[in-house]
Amino acid sequence: MNIIVTGGAGFIGSNFVFHMLNKYPDYRIVCLDCLTYAGNLSTLEPVMDNPNFRFVKESITDREAVYKLFEEEHPDMVVNFAAESHVDRSIENPEVFLDTNIKGTAVLMDACRKYGIKRYHQVSTDEVYGDLPLDRPDLFFTEETPIHTSSPYSSSKAGADLLVLAYHRTYGLPVTISRCSNNYGPYHFPEKLIPLMIANALNDKPLPVYGEGLNVRDWLYVEDHCKAIDLIIHNGRVGEVYNVGGHNEKTNIEIVKIICKELGKPESLITHVEDRKGHDMRYAIDPTKIHNELGWLPETKFEDGIKKTIQWYLDNKEWWETIISGEYQNYYEKMYANREEI
Ligand code: NAD
Ligand code: DAU
Repeated sequence: MNIIVTGGAGFIGSNFVFHMLNKYPDYRIVCLDCLTYAGNLSTLEPVMDNPNFRFVKESITDREAVYKLFEEEHPDMVVNFAAESHVDRSIENPEVFLDTNIKGTAVLMDACRKYGIKRYHQVSTDEVYGDLPLDRPDLFFTEETPIHTSSPYSSSKAGADLLVLAYHRTYGLPVTISRCSNNYGPYHFPEKLIPLMIANALNDKPLPVYGEGLNVRDWLYVEDHCKAIDLIIHNGRVGEVYNVGGHNEKTNIEIVKIICKELGKPESLITHVEDRKGHDMRYAIDPTKIHNELGWLPETKFEDGIKKTIQWYLDNKEWWETIISGEYQNYYEKMYANREEI
Protein backbone atom coordinates (compact mmCIF):
# COMPACT_ATOMS: atom_id res chain seq x y z
CA MET A 1 0.00 0.00 0.00
CA ASN A 2 1.35 3.42 -0.97
CA ILE A 3 -0.23 6.34 0.95
CA ILE A 4 0.29 10.06 0.40
CA VAL A 5 -0.12 11.83 3.74
CA THR A 6 -0.41 15.59 3.27
CA GLY A 7 0.43 17.92 6.16
CA GLY A 8 2.58 15.19 7.73
CA ALA A 9 5.03 17.73 9.18
CA GLY A 10 2.28 19.23 11.36
CA PHE A 11 0.80 18.08 14.65
CA ILE A 12 -1.70 15.32 13.80
CA GLY A 13 -0.15 14.45 10.43
CA SER A 14 3.24 13.64 11.99
CA ASN A 15 1.63 11.50 14.68
CA PHE A 16 -0.24 9.67 11.90
CA VAL A 17 2.97 9.12 9.89
CA PHE A 18 4.61 7.55 12.98
CA HIS A 19 1.53 5.45 13.70
CA MET A 20 1.34 4.07 10.14
CA LEU A 21 5.08 3.35 9.75
CA ASN A 22 5.06 1.51 13.10
CA LYS A 23 1.92 -0.48 12.48
CA TYR A 24 2.39 -1.35 8.79
CA PRO A 25 6.06 -2.12 8.08
CA ASP A 26 5.20 -3.03 4.45
CA TYR A 27 3.42 0.28 3.64
CA ARG A 28 5.09 3.18 1.86
CA ILE A 29 4.23 6.58 3.36
CA VAL A 30 4.89 9.70 1.29
CA CYS A 31 4.54 12.96 3.18
CA LEU A 32 3.56 15.98 1.07
CA ASP A 33 3.99 19.20 3.05
CA CYS A 34 5.04 22.70 2.02
CA LEU A 35 6.31 23.52 5.54
CA THR A 36 4.30 26.58 6.49
CA TYR A 37 5.00 28.14 9.90
CA ALA A 38 3.16 25.10 11.36
CA GLY A 39 5.19 22.46 9.54
CA ASN A 40 8.41 21.30 11.14
CA LEU A 41 10.83 19.00 9.40
CA SER A 42 12.68 18.26 12.65
CA THR A 43 9.52 16.49 13.85
CA LEU A 44 9.99 13.92 11.07
CA GLU A 45 13.71 13.45 11.81
CA PRO A 46 13.17 9.98 13.39
CA VAL A 47 11.70 8.57 10.15
CA MET A 48 13.74 10.44 7.53
CA ASP A 49 16.05 7.43 7.01
CA ASN A 50 13.22 4.90 6.97
CA PRO A 51 13.26 3.32 3.46
CA ASN A 52 9.44 3.19 3.52
CA PHE A 53 9.20 6.96 4.00
CA ARG A 54 9.62 9.87 1.61
CA PHE A 55 9.24 13.59 2.29
CA VAL A 56 8.25 15.96 -0.52
CA LYS A 57 8.20 19.73 0.06
CA GLU A 58 5.41 21.03 -2.16
CA SER A 59 2.05 22.71 -1.69
CA ILE A 60 -1.24 20.88 -2.19
CA THR A 61 -2.37 23.97 -4.11
CA ASP A 62 0.37 23.45 -6.75
CA ARG A 63 -1.41 21.37 -9.38
CA GLU A 64 1.72 20.63 -11.42
CA ALA A 65 3.68 19.46 -8.38
CA VAL A 66 0.79 17.32 -7.13
CA TYR A 67 0.28 15.65 -10.54
CA LYS A 68 4.02 14.99 -10.81
CA LEU A 69 3.98 13.30 -7.42
CA PHE A 70 1.06 11.09 -8.45
CA GLU A 71 2.94 10.09 -11.63
CA GLU A 72 5.99 9.16 -9.55
CA GLU A 73 4.22 7.40 -6.69
CA HIS A 74 0.96 5.90 -8.05
CA PRO A 75 -0.62 6.19 -4.56
CA ASP A 76 -3.36 3.80 -3.43
CA MET A 77 -4.67 6.34 -0.92
CA VAL A 78 -4.44 10.01 0.00
CA VAL A 79 -5.03 11.17 3.56
CA ASN A 80 -5.36 14.95 3.58
CA PHE A 81 -4.27 16.62 6.82
CA ALA A 82 -2.73 19.67 5.10
CA ALA A 83 -4.55 22.81 6.15
CA GLU A 84 -4.33 26.17 7.76
CA SER A 85 -5.63 25.08 11.14
CA HIS A 86 -5.73 27.99 13.59
CA VAL A 87 -9.04 29.81 14.12
CA ASP A 88 -7.42 33.03 15.44
CA ARG A 89 -5.22 33.32 12.34
CA SER A 90 -8.26 32.79 10.10
CA ILE A 91 -9.95 35.76 11.78
CA GLU A 92 -6.92 37.93 10.96
CA ASN A 93 -6.35 36.69 7.41
CA PRO A 94 -8.95 34.38 5.83
CA GLU A 95 -7.47 34.23 2.32
CA VAL A 96 -4.79 31.59 2.77
CA PHE A 97 -7.43 29.40 4.49
CA LEU A 98 -9.53 29.47 1.34
CA ASP A 99 -6.53 28.69 -0.87
CA THR A 100 -5.13 25.78 1.10
CA ASN A 101 -8.22 24.30 2.69
CA ILE A 102 -10.59 24.53 -0.28
CA LYS A 103 -8.50 24.89 -3.44
CA GLY A 104 -5.81 22.51 -2.15
CA THR A 105 -8.45 19.86 -1.45
CA ALA A 106 -9.82 20.25 -5.00
CA VAL A 107 -6.34 19.89 -6.53
CA LEU A 108 -5.68 16.69 -4.58
CA MET A 109 -9.04 15.21 -5.62
CA ASP A 110 -8.49 16.21 -9.26
CA ALA A 111 -5.22 14.28 -9.14
CA CYS A 112 -7.08 11.31 -7.64
CA ARG A 113 -9.61 11.44 -10.50
CA LYS A 114 -6.93 11.77 -13.16
CA TYR A 115 -4.63 9.00 -11.94
CA GLY A 116 -7.08 6.79 -10.03
CA ILE A 117 -7.20 6.09 -6.29
CA LYS A 118 -8.59 3.45 -3.92
CA ARG A 119 -9.43 6.00 -1.22
CA TYR A 120 -9.31 9.76 -0.70
CA HIS A 121 -9.69 10.61 2.99
CA GLN A 122 -10.44 14.15 4.16
CA VAL A 123 -9.43 15.02 7.73
CA SER A 124 -12.13 17.45 8.80
CA THR A 125 -13.30 18.95 12.05
CA ASP A 126 -16.30 19.12 14.38
CA GLU A 127 -16.15 22.92 13.89
CA VAL A 128 -18.13 22.49 10.65
CA TYR A 129 -21.20 21.90 12.88
CA GLY A 130 -20.87 25.30 14.59
CA ASP A 131 -21.42 25.16 18.34
CA LEU A 132 -23.83 23.86 20.97
CA PRO A 133 -25.40 25.88 23.79
CA LEU A 134 -23.99 25.44 27.30
CA ASP A 135 -27.45 24.89 28.81
CA ARG A 136 -28.19 21.78 26.68
CA PRO A 137 -25.70 19.14 27.86
CA ASP A 138 -27.98 16.52 26.27
CA LEU A 139 -27.08 17.73 22.74
CA PHE A 140 -24.16 16.32 20.73
CA PHE A 141 -22.94 16.64 17.12
CA THR A 142 -23.95 13.64 15.03
CA GLU A 143 -23.11 13.14 11.34
CA GLU A 144 -26.63 14.44 10.59
CA THR A 145 -26.14 17.77 12.41
CA PRO A 146 -26.43 20.57 9.84
CA ILE A 147 -23.28 22.38 8.73
CA HIS A 148 -23.35 25.80 10.40
CA THR A 149 -19.97 27.47 10.65
CA SER A 150 -18.69 30.40 12.74
CA SER A 151 -15.13 31.28 11.64
CA PRO A 152 -13.35 31.64 8.30
CA TYR A 153 -11.39 28.50 9.32
CA SER A 154 -14.47 26.37 9.93
CA SER A 155 -16.16 27.74 6.80
CA SER A 156 -13.16 26.77 4.70
CA LYS A 157 -13.18 23.26 6.19
CA ALA A 158 -16.93 22.98 5.56
CA GLY A 159 -16.41 24.16 1.98
CA ALA A 160 -13.83 21.42 1.52
CA ASP A 161 -16.15 18.78 3.00
CA LEU A 162 -18.92 19.77 0.61
CA LEU A 163 -16.52 19.53 -2.32
CA VAL A 164 -15.38 16.08 -1.19
CA LEU A 165 -18.98 14.84 -1.04
CA ALA A 166 -19.68 16.46 -4.43
CA TYR A 167 -16.68 14.67 -6.01
CA HIS A 168 -18.08 11.43 -4.65
CA ARG A 169 -21.57 11.98 -6.02
CA THR A 170 -20.56 13.58 -9.33
CA TYR A 171 -17.43 11.63 -10.26
CA GLY A 172 -17.80 8.55 -8.05
CA LEU A 173 -14.53 9.35 -6.23
CA PRO A 174 -14.10 6.85 -3.34
CA VAL A 175 -13.99 9.29 -0.44
CA THR A 176 -14.39 9.26 3.33
CA ILE A 177 -14.45 12.16 5.79
CA SER A 178 -13.66 12.20 9.50
CA ARG A 179 -14.78 15.08 11.72
CA CYS A 180 -12.81 15.13 14.92
CA SER A 181 -12.92 17.17 18.11
CA ASN A 182 -9.93 18.99 19.68
CA ASN A 183 -6.76 16.91 19.72
CA TYR A 184 -3.90 17.19 22.20
CA GLY A 185 -0.55 15.42 22.56
CA PRO A 186 3.07 15.56 21.33
CA TYR A 187 4.12 17.99 18.55
CA HIS A 188 1.09 20.27 19.07
CA PHE A 189 2.07 23.73 17.79
CA PRO A 190 2.38 26.19 20.72
CA GLU A 191 -0.20 28.65 19.33
CA LYS A 192 -3.01 26.27 20.43
CA LEU A 193 -4.55 26.31 23.94
CA ILE A 194 -2.87 23.34 25.66
CA PRO A 195 0.73 23.72 24.38
CA LEU A 196 0.53 27.53 24.67
CA MET A 197 -0.47 27.27 28.32
CA ILE A 198 2.22 24.66 29.04
CA ALA A 199 4.95 26.77 27.38
CA ASN A 200 3.83 30.02 29.04
CA ALA A 201 3.47 28.39 32.46
CA LEU A 202 6.95 26.88 32.22
CA ASN A 203 8.28 30.38 31.42
CA ASP A 204 6.18 31.94 34.24
CA LYS A 205 4.36 34.07 31.66
CA PRO A 206 0.69 35.12 31.86
CA LEU A 207 -1.85 32.48 30.77
CA PRO A 208 -4.28 34.33 28.45
CA VAL A 209 -7.76 32.83 28.80
CA TYR A 210 -10.27 34.24 26.32
CA GLY A 211 -13.29 35.75 28.11
CA GLU A 212 -14.44 33.88 31.18
CA GLY A 213 -12.94 30.60 29.97
CA LEU A 214 -16.29 28.82 30.11
CA ASN A 215 -16.18 27.60 26.49
CA VAL A 216 -16.20 23.82 26.29
CA ARG A 217 -14.04 21.61 24.06
CA ASP A 218 -14.17 17.79 23.73
CA TRP A 219 -10.50 16.75 24.06
CA LEU A 220 -9.09 13.66 22.34
CA TYR A 221 -5.56 12.26 22.62
CA VAL A 222 -3.94 12.49 19.19
CA GLU A 223 -3.01 8.78 19.01
CA ASP A 224 -6.70 7.87 19.39
CA HIS A 225 -7.51 10.14 16.43
CA CYS A 226 -4.79 8.44 14.34
CA LYS A 227 -6.25 5.01 15.17
CA ALA A 228 -9.70 6.21 14.10
CA ILE A 229 -8.40 7.40 10.71
CA ASP A 230 -6.50 4.12 10.27
CA LEU A 231 -9.79 2.23 10.80
CA ILE A 232 -11.78 4.52 8.47
CA ILE A 233 -9.36 4.31 5.53
CA HIS A 234 -9.25 0.51 5.78
CA ASN A 235 -12.81 -0.40 6.82
CA GLY A 236 -14.97 2.73 6.53
CA ARG A 237 -17.75 2.89 3.96
CA VAL A 238 -17.07 5.02 0.89
CA GLY A 239 -19.06 8.27 0.75
CA GLU A 240 -19.53 8.33 4.54
CA VAL A 241 -18.73 10.86 7.24
CA TYR A 242 -17.49 9.62 10.65
CA ASN A 243 -17.46 11.79 13.78
CA VAL A 244 -14.52 11.17 16.10
CA GLY A 245 -14.55 12.38 19.71
CA GLY A 246 -13.90 11.26 23.22
CA HIS A 247 -16.84 12.29 25.44
CA ASN A 248 -14.29 14.34 27.31
CA GLU A 249 -15.74 17.81 27.68
CA LYS A 250 -13.83 20.40 29.67
CA THR A 251 -14.08 24.17 29.99
CA ASN A 252 -10.97 26.10 28.99
CA ILE A 253 -10.49 27.37 32.52
CA GLU A 254 -10.55 23.79 33.85
CA ILE A 255 -7.82 22.85 31.36
CA VAL A 256 -5.62 25.79 32.32
CA LYS A 257 -6.03 25.06 36.05
CA ILE A 258 -5.11 21.38 35.48
CA ILE A 259 -1.94 22.50 33.66
CA CYS A 260 -1.03 24.89 36.53
CA LYS A 261 -1.54 22.10 39.05
CA GLU A 262 0.49 19.51 37.10
CA LEU A 263 3.38 21.98 36.67
CA GLY A 264 3.20 23.32 40.24
CA LYS A 265 2.56 26.86 38.94
CA PRO A 266 0.27 29.42 40.65
CA GLU A 267 -3.19 30.09 39.21
CA SER A 268 -2.37 33.78 39.60
CA LEU A 269 -0.64 33.46 36.20
CA ILE A 270 -4.12 33.20 34.64
CA THR A 271 -5.25 36.44 32.96
CA HIS A 272 -8.67 36.83 31.40
CA VAL A 273 -8.31 38.64 28.08
CA GLU A 274 -10.63 39.92 25.37
CA ASP A 275 -12.68 37.12 23.82
CA ARG A 276 -12.20 35.56 20.38
CA LYS A 277 -14.60 37.05 17.81
CA GLY A 278 -17.49 34.69 17.07
CA HIS A 279 -16.17 32.31 19.76
CA ASP A 280 -17.88 28.89 19.59
CA MET A 281 -19.35 27.99 22.98
CA ARG A 282 -19.34 24.20 23.13
CA TYR A 283 -18.20 21.28 20.96
CA ALA A 284 -19.31 17.74 21.84
CA ILE A 285 -19.16 14.72 19.55
CA ASP A 286 -21.46 11.71 19.46
CA PRO A 287 -19.11 8.94 18.26
CA THR A 288 -21.81 6.22 18.07
CA LYS A 289 -21.42 5.64 14.32
CA ILE A 290 -17.68 4.97 14.32
CA HIS A 291 -18.07 2.83 17.44
CA ASN A 292 -20.90 0.69 16.03
CA GLU A 293 -19.48 0.34 12.51
CA LEU A 294 -15.75 0.17 13.14
CA GLY A 295 -15.42 -0.68 16.83
CA TRP A 296 -13.49 2.53 17.61
CA LEU A 297 -13.40 3.91 21.15
CA PRO A 298 -10.96 6.42 22.64
CA GLU A 299 -8.37 4.54 24.69
CA THR A 300 -6.52 7.33 26.51
CA LYS A 301 -8.18 8.83 29.58
CA PHE A 302 -7.71 12.61 29.81
CA GLU A 303 -6.00 12.32 33.24
CA ASP A 304 -3.32 10.09 31.63
CA GLY A 305 -3.17 11.89 28.28
CA ILE A 306 -2.57 15.31 29.80
CA LYS A 307 0.19 13.94 32.06
CA LYS A 308 1.87 12.26 29.06
CA THR A 309 1.54 15.48 27.05
CA ILE A 310 3.02 17.69 29.77
CA GLN A 311 5.87 15.21 30.22
CA TRP A 312 6.51 15.31 26.46
CA TYR A 313 6.80 19.11 26.54
CA LEU A 314 9.17 18.85 29.52
CA ASP A 315 11.31 16.25 27.72
CA ASN A 316 11.29 18.06 24.36
CA LYS A 317 11.93 21.66 25.33
CA GLU A 318 14.24 22.18 22.36
CA TRP A 319 11.39 21.38 19.92
CA TRP A 320 9.06 24.10 21.21
CA GLU A 321 11.68 26.56 22.42
CA THR A 322 13.06 26.72 18.86
CA ILE A 323 9.55 27.55 17.65
CA ILE A 324 8.69 30.18 20.23
CA SER A 325 12.04 31.94 19.92
CA GLY A 326 11.61 32.41 16.14
CA GLU A 327 8.94 34.08 13.96
CA TYR A 328 6.33 32.92 16.50
CA GLN A 329 7.40 35.81 18.78
CA ASN A 330 6.06 38.33 16.25
CA TYR A 331 2.81 36.37 15.94
CA TYR A 332 2.40 36.21 19.71
CA GLU A 333 3.04 39.90 20.23
CA LYS A 334 0.64 40.89 17.47
CA MET A 335 -2.11 38.46 18.47
CA TYR A 336 -1.98 39.04 22.23
CA ALA A 337 -0.87 42.69 22.53
CA ASN A 338 -4.29 43.80 21.27
CA ARG A 339 -6.19 41.56 23.66
CA GLU A 340 -6.85 43.73 26.65
CA GLU A 341 -7.04 42.16 30.08
CA ILE A 342 -10.65 42.04 31.29
P1 NAD B 1 -1.10 21.88 11.90
O1 NAD B 1 -1.34 23.33 11.67
O2 NAD B 1 -0.31 21.46 13.10
O3 NAD B 1 -0.36 21.27 10.62
C1 NAD B 1 -0.75 21.56 9.31
C2 NAD B 1 0.32 21.02 8.37
O4 NAD B 1 -0.12 21.25 7.02
C3 NAD B 1 1.68 21.71 8.51
O5 NAD B 1 2.71 20.76 8.48
C4 NAD B 1 1.75 22.62 7.30
O6 NAD B 1 3.07 22.86 6.83
C5 NAD B 1 0.95 21.81 6.28
N1 NAD B 1 0.39 22.65 5.22
C6 NAD B 1 -0.32 23.81 5.36
N2 NAD B 1 -0.64 24.30 4.15
C7 NAD B 1 -0.15 23.41 3.24
C8 NAD B 1 -0.18 23.37 1.81
N3 NAD B 1 -0.75 24.33 1.09
N4 NAD B 1 0.43 22.32 1.20
C9 NAD B 1 1.03 21.35 1.92
N5 NAD B 1 1.09 21.36 3.25
C10 NAD B 1 0.51 22.38 3.90
O7 NAD B 1 -2.52 21.21 11.87
P2 NAD B 1 -3.12 19.99 12.75
O8 NAD B 1 -3.61 20.52 14.04
O9 NAD B 1 -2.15 18.86 12.73
O10 NAD B 1 -4.40 19.63 11.88
C11 NAD B 1 -4.30 18.70 10.81
C12 NAD B 1 -5.66 18.55 10.15
O11 NAD B 1 -6.61 18.08 11.10
C13 NAD B 1 -6.24 19.85 9.61
O12 NAD B 1 -6.89 19.57 8.39
C14 NAD B 1 -7.24 20.29 10.66
O13 NAD B 1 -8.27 21.05 10.08
C15 NAD B 1 -7.72 18.96 11.16
N6 NAD B 1 -8.20 18.92 12.56
C16 NAD B 1 -7.39 19.36 13.57
C17 NAD B 1 -7.82 19.23 14.88
C18 NAD B 1 -6.96 19.68 16.05
O14 NAD B 1 -7.43 19.66 17.19
N7 NAD B 1 -5.71 20.08 15.84
C19 NAD B 1 -9.07 18.65 15.16
C20 NAD B 1 -9.88 18.24 14.09
C21 NAD B 1 -9.40 18.35 12.79
O1 DAU C 1 -12.51 21.19 17.33
C1 DAU C 1 -11.50 20.92 16.42
C2 DAU C 1 -10.64 22.16 16.22
O2 DAU C 1 -9.89 22.34 17.41
C3 DAU C 1 -9.71 22.05 15.01
O3 DAU C 1 -10.50 21.99 13.85
C4 DAU C 1 -8.76 23.25 14.94
O4 DAU C 1 -7.84 23.06 13.88
C5 DAU C 1 -8.00 23.33 16.24
O5 DAU C 1 -7.15 24.46 16.23
C6 DAU C 1 -8.99 23.42 17.42
O6 DAU C 1 -9.72 24.69 17.37
P1 DAU C 1 -10.02 25.53 18.71
O7 DAU C 1 -10.28 26.93 18.31
O8 DAU C 1 -11.03 24.84 19.55
O9 DAU C 1 -8.59 25.37 19.43
P2 DAU C 1 -7.65 26.42 20.21
O10 DAU C 1 -6.55 25.60 20.84
O11 DAU C 1 -7.25 27.57 19.36
O12 DAU C 1 -8.60 26.97 21.35
C7 DAU C 1 -9.23 26.10 22.27
C8 DAU C 1 -10.08 26.94 23.19
O13 DAU C 1 -9.21 27.75 24.01
C9 DAU C 1 -10.97 27.93 22.48
O14 DAU C 1 -12.21 28.04 23.17
C10 DAU C 1 -10.22 29.26 22.54
C11 DAU C 1 -9.48 29.14 23.85
N1 DAU C 1 -8.16 29.84 23.90
C12 DAU C 1 -7.25 29.58 22.92
C13 DAU C 1 -6.03 30.21 22.93
C14 DAU C 1 -5.02 29.94 21.83
C15 DAU C 1 -7.86 30.70 24.96
O15 DAU C 1 -8.68 30.90 25.87
N2 DAU C 1 -6.64 31.30 24.96
C16 DAU C 1 -5.71 31.11 23.99
O16 DAU C 1 -4.62 31.74 24.05
